[in-house]
Amino acid sequence: MEGVINHMSTEKKYNVAVVGATGAVGQKIMSFLEEKPFNFGEIKLLSSKRSAGKKFSLLNKEITVEEAKPESFDEVDIAFFSAGGSVSEKLVPEAVKRGTVVIDNTSAYRMTEDVPLVVPEVNEDALEKHQGIIANPNCSTIQMVVALKPIAEEFGLSRVIVSTYQAVSGAGLSAEEELNNQVKQYVNGEKMEANILPVGSDKKHFPMAFNALPQIDVFQENGYTKEEMKMVNETKKILSNNNLPVAATCVRLPVFTSHAESVYVEVDKAGVSVDELKETLANGKGLVLEDNIETQTYPTPLEAEGKKEVFVGRIRKDLDTANGYHLWIVSDNLVKGAAWNTVQIATSLVNKDLV
Ligand SMILES: NC(=O)c1ccc[n+]([C@@H]2O[C@H](COP(=O)([O-])OP(=O)(O)OC[C@H]3O[C@@H](n4cnc5c(N)ncnc54)[C@H](OP(=O)(O)O)[C@@H]3O)[C@@H](O)[C@H]2O)c1
Repeated sequence: MEGVINHMSTEKKYNVAVVGATGAVGQKIMSFLEEKPFNFGEIKLLSSKRSAGKKFSLLNKEITVEEAKPESFDEVDIAFFSAGGSVSEKLVPEAVKRGTVVIDNTSAYRMTEDVPLVVPEVNEDALEKHQGIIANPNCSTIQMVVALKPIAEEFGLSRVIVSTYQAVSGAGLSAEEELNNQVKQYVNGEKMEANILPVGSDKKHFPMAFNALPQIDVFQENGYTKEEMKMVNETKKILSNNNLPVAATCVRLPVFTSHAESVYVEVDKAGVSVDELKETLANGKGLVLEDNIETQTYPTPLEAEGKKEVFVGRIRKDLDTANGYHLWIVSDNLVKGAAWNTVQIATSLVNKDLV
């Protein structure tokens, strides 16, 4: 029957490991595994030594978190990695050596040539070439390319300039906790303590509460931050267009969840109307158009929280450049920007029999 996915008809059960299970992204991945996107065998929850022994309930079973080690991947079919780049660099090759297919949420392998960088709504076919590792793109890139894909297909894309308004949950649970504490400190008239943002490992830290920080990740030699260069390079790779001009400015805001982006695009086709652009976006895979200035309808981070889609609104024609348009794109960075995209990738791999 059309529309029935393969795995329902096969009895195959997949053993799954979640590496970084106690973290912000790992916890969300577990919540999507509860939706049983495919048949599970054993599920392992892995972390550092610190959290080993913690217990979580998943699919009506109590599972004890174990320390992630090379042997943890014996007999594992699919592993979700979200425990930081250095953990992926060390343990992903060990998992692949044992026949595990890895979906990696960190930046460790995103730009490696033979590693597909996948957003299923945009380039699902790239999965077919995988050699054991599939990389999940950066959260801010994922939501942008979901909106850029239908524009590129319909009108051709000739330039992208993006400014982001990113949530603190993108920097992990400890950054969320710090913002929470700073809000309380500010309201109580106390000095705000800053030890994490903009970047834990950098020299200086600034309060995030009631502030805006134009630094996400460390600075590169060219003056852009690593996050900005991720958006530039990953967008070109996912859209298979190395010549596409892309520039990014990434800013952290005191928002807990969902990134927002102001995106300027130029298209190849002349004379595209705003209505045509809206229609194209409304029909785009994984996209929801929320755009009506009369009813003040537009996406916001709070509204997008917990949802799997990418929301787009405030679509306008540029005032001076003939083929230029402005968009406002919002999505939950932990859901579509991380956990849901990885679970979608795993489901595609199962349905395409690529595990
Ligand atoms: N947050 C986002 O929006 C987002 C989006 C896309 C990708 N990512 C990437 O996903 C990764 C995790 O992000 P997060 O926000 O979930 O961070 P997080 O909340 O700080 O969680 C980190 C997780 O990694 C585990 N871990 C740390 N060191 C480890 C080690 N040596 N061995 C095994 N596990 C270890 C931690 O376990 P313990 O409990 O034992 O410390 C915890 O489960 C990062 O690389 C991040 O770049 C994040």
